[in-house]
Amino acid sequence: MTQLFSSIIPAARGRAGNDPIFALNAEARRRADAGESILNATLGALMTDEGGLCTMPTVMETMARFQDGRAAGYAPISGVPAYRQAVIRELFGEGPLAAQAVAVATPGGTGAIFQSVVNFLEPGQKMLTPSFYWGPYTEISRHTRREVETFPMFRADGSFDIEGMSAGLDRHLATQGRALLVLNFPCHNPTGYTLSADEWRRVAEAVGEAGQRGPVTVLIDAAYMAFGGASATSWVGAVPSLLEHATVLVAWTASKSFAQYGARVGALIGLHRDPLELEQMGNALGYSCRATWSNCNHLGQLAVTELLTDADLIKRASAERAQLASLLQERVDAFNHHASAAGLSTPRYDAGFFVAVFTKDAQASAKAMRDLGVYITPIPGAARVAVCSTPASAMPRLVDALKAGVAAAS
Ligand SMILES: Cc1ncc(COP(=O)(O)O)c(C=O)c1O
Repeated sequence: MTQLFSSIIPAARGRAGNDPIFALNAEARRRADAGESILNATLGALMTDEGGLCTMPTVMETMARFQDGRAAGYAPISGVPAYRQAVIRELFGEGPLAAQAVAVATPGGTGAIFQSVVNFLEPGQKMLTPSFYWGPYTEISRHTRREVETFPMFRADGSFDIEGMSAGLDRHLATQGRALLVLNFPCHNPTGYTLSADEWRRVAEAVGEAGQRGPVTVLIDAAYMAFGGASATSWVGAVPSLLEHATVLVAWTASKSFAQYGARVGALIGLHRDPLELEQMGNALGYSCRATWSNCNHLGQLAVTELLTDADLIKRASAERAQLASLLQERVDAFNHHASAAGLSTPRYDAGFFVAVFTKDAQASAKAMRDLGVYITPIPGAARVAVCSTPASAMPRLVDALKAGVAAAS
């Protein structure tokens, strides 16, 4: 018999084929389908109390209007020009920042993060992000032969550790000659922490200091921004001072803001004060589009352009989003009420789809909770709870299970 070789390169062997969160979600569904009473607080999508996906009728209607063949052809490599402009205007209006920005379409926020990693870090280098972060940063970095390094997110008093961040920037400039700082605010996943205007000012000061010693890029992962309430755009005020000595990138996505997770419509917006550098950036990003996904969902870009620019659609979609935001708030209020009565320890929650509950051993807590039929996502140091998909009426059960989970780990 001839030998059967494995052709998979060693680096690609033994990989987990599915995201751990999607895998947990699948297990929860399997048990529920088999008749068990399961509470699933793993997946980051807004769900109705009945367990269906929350959608926005205006968005669905607008998507349907483009199913007439207009989107059957390829979209331009870097994205539909009107779409790219609409996203820039959505973030910065008609002001001076819009004139200092370029954008490319990406498949969701994930594609924007990928673009940032491959164009702003050399292979072998590390992005810098707080110690609590969205897990796929690791896979996106490793897959492209980069890494993630963290700084402690919180000081002892629970505030954002700007000194730790500064030390990280110094370290990366010293060891790799550049830094890519990734900040997922507002509505940080997994904690719900949002930097205040004053914290943004201090972040910009620290970046300005570091940015005089080498190339510093700040990627603002704004995936949940539309649910940030009053703090949704607090970061925009810091952009002019960030730009004094750094490049700013913004990962934008329609996944959450238009409840279109499956449409894979996103953008990476790059800002710099030097027009020649902006031109370089636009070209580099376009090159990466061509070299990876070629071009993005055409129908999605056309529909989202309408949703971002047509006054009537903006009004209707905003009203629908406000309803989703109030459903989320109801759940957060219920969680906070029960969690504080139970004495659970959490970081400061400002806004967003998730809360985190500190635990000494997240895997042990998650296991104890699964035994009770309750699913959360274990992350280093905490249980991540998707309040976005948990009905307010289920919060007492969720909090009881969290309490048991934390106890099992101590
Ligand atoms: C923090 C964070 N960034 C980016 C993304 C990517 O979103 P998308 O579905 O648009 O790729 C997510 C999605 O869950 C996220 O939680």
